[in-house]
Amino acid sequence: MQIDDAITRQITDEFYWLHRHPELSYAEVETTARLRAALTRAGVRVLDVPLQTGLVAEIGMGKAPIVGLRADIDALPVTEQTGLDYASERPGVMHACGHDFHMTSVLGAALYLKKHEAELGGTVRIVFQPAEEAPGGARDVLATGALADVQALFGLHSSPLFPVGTVGVSAGAVTASVDKFTLHFQGKGTHAAHPERGVDPIVMASSFVLTAQSIISRNINPAHRDLVSITRFTSGNTWNVIPETAELEGTVRCLDNADRAHIEQRLRDLAAGQAASFGGSVTVDWVAGPPATDNTPAWSDCAREVAEAQGLTVVPAPASLAGEDFAYYQTKLPGCFVLVGTGASPANHNPAFRVDPAALGPTAAYLAALAQRAIAQLARS
Ligand code: NI
Repeated sequence: MQIDDAITRQITDEFYWLHRHPELSYAEVETTARLRAALTRAGVRVLDVPLQTGLVAEIGMGKAPIVGLRADIDALPVTEQTGLDYASERPGVMHACGHDFHMTSVLGAALYLKKHEAELGGTVRIVFQPAEEAPGGARDVLATGALADVQALFGLHSSPLFPVGTVGVSAGAVTASVDKFTLHFQGKGTHAAHPERGVDPIVMASSFVLTAQSIISRNINPAHRDLVSITRFTSGNTWNVIPETAELEGTVRCLDNADRAHIEQRLRDLAAGQAASFGGSVTVDWVAGPPATDNTPAWSDCAREVAEAQGLTVVPAPASLAGEDFAYYQTKLPGCFVLVGTGASPANHNPAFRVDPAALGPTAAYLAALAQRAIAQLARS
């Protein structure tokens, strides 16, 4: 199945416009208005859902089977360096993660499905979700209840690892849980020449930085894929003073959701133990982000079969320790998150990241076919 050239042209134009006008998380006002206008022009019903930005629309009569297609719509605080003629017109803001590609692919699927609404035999909810990068827009959408009756939800991410025409599909986790922590080590300030009169928080925190790497290597099943990264170490302000405090910031990522609580506990225990062993103390601020994605095996099979039927090359999705808030939906709904090849490019979030617009038409067709097939499958079961 292919979508018609008119839809491909339209979503390609929308892609260029959206790429030129990126908006940060929870500020996707013009983006939402643009999507709403495109849907409304095509006669697609936009639902009355309490979201500040983003929207939920519907094709079909609102009756079961009900499946969903989700795209995230926010951009990143990155200054674009692609040199593209449709580069961002907003300094310091860029669609550097391909969310412009996600929303226009889903828009194309919506326009196609609207044209073929009579044969749909069910309902497709279209979710344009704000603030994936914040992250947490997925929780806002869930809180509206707009997806409570959805039986299968599909989402996509652009991937510069694959050429256009290749899709990565796997069951289980394809992205990791994301937790963020800040550790405040408390020592006792003193003259650099008299360390014996103080408690050095830099030595304390440094010892913790090295010890923390033993959590993955010594406390976790070596077959599992998790990580601890410490990414900021801040302390002191001059050369001849041992400071009072040291602050560390970092992240824990798990493809095995079951390891998450264990790693947090080990990290807290090690921090407290290291601090105490040097005569200091530590407080821990823990911010839990999304869990690991968890693709339902049956819907992963469906996503793979539809991709093959669409003439796409299907490969296993390489698991990444990056996060994706689609995982919040998967704590409530079955479904599948797929990776779509968008051609060679520097990595997502890089200022030179780019998506080949040639991927738009085939991806829109794939998502439309996936929604149709999921409805047919649910109708049979
Ligand atoms: Ni992204």
